[in-house]
This record gives sequence, C-alpha cells and structure tokens, in this order.
Amino acid sequence: MRTVAIIPAAGSGIRMGSGRAKQFLDLDGRPLLAVTLKSFQLCREVDAIILVVHSREVDYCRKKIVERFGLDKVIKVVPGGKRRQDSVRLGVEATNGDYGLVLIHDGVRPMIDEEFIEQVIAAAMTHRAVITGLPARETVKEIDRTNQVIKTYDRKIVWLVQTPQVFRYEDILLAHKTALLEGWKEATDDSLLVERLGIPVNVIEGSENNIKITTPHDLEMAKFLLKQKIK
Ligand code: C5P
Repeated sequence: MRTVAIIPAAGSGIRMGSGRAKQFLDLDGRPLLAVTLKSFQLCREVDAIILVVHSREVDYCRKKIVERFGLDKVIKVVPGGKRRQDSVRLGVEATNGDYGLVLIHDGVRPMIDEEFIEQVIAAAMTHRAVITGLPARETVKEIDRTNQVIKTYDRKIVWLVQTPQVFRYEDILLAHKTALLEGWKEATDDSLLVERLGIPVNVIEGSENNIKITTPHDLEMAKFLLKQKIK
C-alpha cells in the first residue's frame, strides 16, 4: 500500500517562550522541522510527505526547508488550522485519496528515525490502525479542578501515546469528518477520533528518545541526544 506522511507543524509553540515557533528553532545547525522531515525523506516505505504549517509560513517552508534541504518527497506544503486537529484534517484532505495508508507525525518530534517509521508501517500491515507509545513508568491519577484526586489508574494498563500513528485513508478521513460534524473539537491525538468510530487501534512500543519538543529543556535534551547520535 502506498503511504503518505502528514507532518502537522502549524502550532505557535507558546510554551517555548521564544519569539519563534518551536518547529523552526535551531537543532544541530538546521531548523528542527528539517531534522524531523529528513527521517521521512530517507524512509523507503514513505512515498510522499505533506507538510502542514501556518499560512504565513508556507513560502518560508517551501524555500528554506523543503528546497534548501532537498526534501523532494514533500509534495505539498499546506496551510493548517486553528487546532492540531484542524491541521491534520487539512493534511488528510490534501492527499486526495492517492495513498492507502496515512501516517501522522508531529513536526516537533525530531528524534524519529527511519527504521522506526518502517516498523510502524510494517505493523499497519497486520493491524488496521497503529499508534506508538510507552508504558507508564509513573502512576497516573485523575484530579478535579481543586487538584483533589478522583481516581488512580492501574499502571500496568496505562500507556503514554506518541506519534507516529498510521491509519487507513478511509478511516482517518471518516474520523476527522465525523469529528467536524459532531463538534468533537479538542482531540490532541488522532487515534481518539478513530476509536470513536469503533475501529480497533493497536499500540506498539515507541522510544523514550522520541520526545515532543515543548519546552527549552526538551530542546536541550534533543541537542544532547543528537550529539550522542541516539536518533
Ligand atoms: O500543541 P502540540 O504540542 O500538541 O502540537 C503537536 C504538533 O501539532 C506540533 O508539531 C504543532 O506544530 C502541530 N499543530 C498544528 N496545528 C495547530 C496546532 C499544533 O499543526 N493548530
């Protein structure tokens, strides 16, 4: 099955506290987003990439990221939406149904490598939907608005979910269209929308190095990991 990778990178990155959105900050002499994209460029199982960025960054990304770093698998750079969920939907729609498998990966997870991308795509041959994550190492509790604990989860059954996530094109398109119709607005994770359709979703174990760059500390950690070539 042909596979397209959708890379949502249209966020503003306000938690980083820098003037520039985190996906454009420097990592090892390149914009962080270029580091993420390179793994998809190098992965043999990925046929095409659709990059989703803020409308004011489309030209910058075409010239300074896609052309400059020779990322010729990027077939489109499309403007994103207000929420991550909107950006992903716009990316899925931009594939025009030309790819049977749709892989989604956060632009701000630069530590992904091509071998792991291949593994996730391979897992999608035996499972209808595949997501990646890590078993919780700490105890997870649910709290109310006053920080009072309501519930403690059994750690053995709790996983922390990451990207990449891979879906059948029809499933992810229907999930996002249904979300739009039903007013499900705040999905921080695409698989939630697919689960709501009753489609089985399987998790495979990811890597603790596949961090999402959210704070300056995360950026320093990514620099360290890259230096160790742990990517
Ligand atoms: O906000 P969060 O850290 O969950 O963002 C995950 C990814 O989604 C980031 O790569 C971010 O740029 C992207 N995003 C997006 N469109 C938005 C908000 C976030 O593409 N409106």
